[in-house]
Amino acid sequence: MKRKIIVGNWKMNPPTLDEAQAIFKKVKRTAANLTSTYVVVCPPLVYIPKFSPLRLKRLLKTSVGLGAQNVFFESQGAYTGEVSAPMLKEFGVTHVIIGHSERRAAGETDEIVSKKVLAVLDAGIHPIVCVGEAERDIHALYLDTLRNQIRNSLSRVPKKLVSQLIVAYEPLWAIGAKDAMDPAVIEETVIFVRKVLADAFGQENTLNTLVLYGGATNFRNAPDIVSRGKVDGLLVGRESVNTPGFVELLKAVDAL
Ligand code: PGA
Repeated sequence: MKRKIIVGNWKMNPPTLDEAQAIFKKVKRTAANLTSTYVVVCPPLVYIPKFSPLRLKRLLKTSVGLGAQNVFFESQGAYTGEVSAPMLKEFGVTHVIIGHSERRAAGETDEIVSKKVLAVLDAGIHPIVCVGEAERDIHALYLDTLRNQIRNSLSRVPKKLVSQLIVAYEPLWAIGAKDAMDPAVIEETVIFVRKVLADAFGQENTLNTLVLYGGATNFRNAPDIVSRGKVDGLLVGRESVNTPGFVELLKAVDAL
């Protein structure tokens, strides 16, 4: 059975380490009992050492992947406030979200995203690259926007590393919204995303590249989005810090 992946983007939540540890503990316990679903938790950076599977330089067996929400593209140097991919790797980070719309809104361009993606791949970490149009128009110009965003954001990815890549399709108007996108439209758009990837890197190289959906997912709509939307998984925002809802979501998706 093909594995699904659920990524929890905690954003700047929860406000205390105690709360963070409580959520992490429950998610980890739930994840250990899933059979076809892999879970990645992306907490705020300062909590990462607390959840690190590394002890005495050994990687402990763990049921949950550990993700960061951002990274810098240089590996070291005079870059105040930045953290590099090799530094994240030292703490057992397995995934990094890159180019989330909230970061793009703060000035992150496709060019910066592409440098970060390469740095993360070089460190042996999976990049989760966020793409998505701001709005839809009747002439379908948004498809050009999406194609350009994907091509430019991934312009530095070597063909042989495309299988390590995860693409998260997140239409901006669904992020933080009340309702998610219709699963039938998700399916259509994800086919387009896969086609753009195949055109850029070759069909055979992209067979294992995962494509996720993100935007207003919760335990109610998640199973339908994964099955009818035909995505490899979800990038979950708000529901990922609502522990009972997230636990339900994981179980429901795993039961598909
Ligand atoms: P949301 O956020 O699930 O709260 O809509 C999704 C995201 O920002 O990745």
